[in-house]
Amino acid sequence: MKKIIASNFKTNHTRKSTKEFIVNVNSFLNKNNIDNEVIIFPTATALDEFVTVSNLSVGAQNAYYVKNGSFTGEIGTEQLDEFGIKTILIGHSERRHNIGESQKDITLKYNYYKSLGYKIVYCVGEPLEVKEQGISQTLEYVFNQFDGIDLEYDNVIIAYEPVWAIGTGLTPSIEDIETIHKKLKKKLQKPLLYGGSVKPTNLAEILAIPNVDGTLIGTSSWNEEDFKSMITTTNKA
Ligand code: PGA
Repeated sequence: MKKIIASNFKTNHTRKSTKEFIVNVNSFLNKNNIDNEVIIFPTATALDEFVTVSNLSVGAQNAYYVKNGSFTGEIGTEQLDEFGIKTILIGHSERRHNIGESQKDITLKYNYYKSLGYKIVYCVGEPLEVKEQGISQTLEYVFNQFDGIDLEYDNVIIAYEPVWAIGTGLTPSIEDIETIHKKLKKKLQKPLLYGGSVKPTNLAEILAIPNVDGTLIGTSSWNEEDFKSMITTTNKA
């Protein structure tokens, strides 16, 4: 299976710079005949139809589990449909821990987008205090994040992202990633990404770990040249 590479822009890039980035990455994929799955999650304000883009998919970092209605500050599928967006990130640690989304909220969102056939990138991962308790507590914590989540759903990609590794420059040891991915793969026969401080210098060794089907990258993907170089690495893996 070809490896997957996904970029999470978080709260970065403008509408203008997002468009340039996406169009340039798309033509890079085209020129270099790269057919790995590439997904970019820009901010909601930068979503667009991207009519010339066919080599990668653009997804929403977040949306509410409604078509439309009175949910101040949220967007629903009426807004996503305007741009033909059919991919969504659900369960990211910044939404779980900083914004306070509960497993119940996340499950409602998952079920709604599943019922509409969206491609879902579903994130799980443990905070530092859980990691410090050891591997079995880590696995128990991560497995609980699948409560209410239908892992039989065809169109889901899972991303394992330890909370303490996100945006910190810290990564788990290769052995820890290998152990957790092996256990996760036993539970779910789905594409499984690793995320958390992936960068050009550690990408190749992370992709070489058994059961790592690709990566979800934040910080180091926001620079177009770095992202392209990481796409090349992914293509060679
Ligand atoms: P990071 O973020 O690459 O900046 O650690 C990863 C993510 O949050 O998806």
